[in-house]
Amino acid sequence: MMAVAAHTYHRPVLVLEVLQALNVKPGSRYIDCTVGEGGHARALLEAAPGGKLLGLDADPHAVSAARGQLQKHARSLVLVNANFSHLEETARERSFVPADGILMDLGLSSLQLEAVGRGFSFQRDEPLDMRYSPDQPVTAADLVNDTSVEELTRIISTYGEEPRARRIARALAEARPLNSSAELARVVSAASGYRRGRTHPATRTFQALRIAVNRELESLESALSQVPSVLASGGRLVVISYHSLEDRLVKEFVRREATDCLCPPSMAACRCGHRATLRPITKKVVRPSSRELSENPRSRSAKLRVAERL
Ligand SMILES: C[S@@+](CC[C@H](N)C(=O)[O-])C[C@H]1O[C@@H](n2cnc3c(N)ncnc32)[C@H](O)[C@@H]1O
Repeated sequence: MMAVAAHTYHRPVLVLEVLQALNVKPGSRYIDCTVGEGGHARALLEAAPGGKLLGLDADPHAVSAARGQLQKHARSLVLVNANFSHLEETARERSFVPADGILMDLGLSSLQLEAVGRGFSFQRDEPLDMRYSPDQPVTAADLVNDTSVEELTRIISTYGEEPRARRIARALAEARPLNSSAELARVVSAASGYRRGRTHPATRTFQALRIAVNRELESLESALSQVPSVLASGGRLVVISYHSLEDRLVKEFVRREATDCLCPPSMAACRCGHRATLRPITKKVVRPSSRELSENPRSRSAKLRVAERL
């Protein structure tokens, strides 16, 4: 079992909104693509008596944690250590197609942030790993030590939305080899020139490296493309994202899937053969209430979108 420093149980975000958005009904089948510590999964299983849930997570420690948390529901639950980029194959193998609902609660959990030795946090000194799954070939140390300054700048600027990406990338290259999270935090803090305020100066760079190491946007794009083949007609897709690039991917995916033809307007007749598969349920994103924001500061960047399979 993985060691966790003074672990706070991961508090699931927008739970009531998720249940409502999924239109949860007894006896239905749900897929939680990011089961984490099982907070949303438990709420779903309790709201859908007689229902079944397939829970995936790329992180084997998360799957063990969910198994422990959801013991009471063991008979209604199938847990698989898998990346959600294998959504359709995993769901078919477990007879979860067609599913009545799919949930994705993206990013990382408190368990991972606080786990000892995984390098997700700048608060401790540990090896620069940041992989959700030990099967992933590239660690954060590989990225910071072997990537060109140009590519590091792109990663930190795009995934971290860090305005001082270039000078941070240059400082990282000069400080090589970098092997620990504390060293990385020190170099980034010094190079960024930010004063320590409410957020640590290395927050954005850590986020960027985590997203790049785990190929988070590529996995999301791949999983979304499989959703129409997995959902039953009338089934719902609910995605909670914490990063503007993730939210944009989801929004554009739903917009595309809600359209009957993707040919350019100049084309006289449709040649693409694309037919709509989804209809958006929320026009605007759903955000946490002010009460949730005050009770759970980690919910502050959460954005929820919902679509329904036609
Ligand atoms: C915010 S947490 C989910 C928390 C969960 N909803 C709960 O209530 O406990 C996100 C989880 O998604 C997992 N994850 C991130 N990317 C993944 C991917 N591509 N495939 C599968 N799991 C992924 C992480 O390992 C993490 O456990």
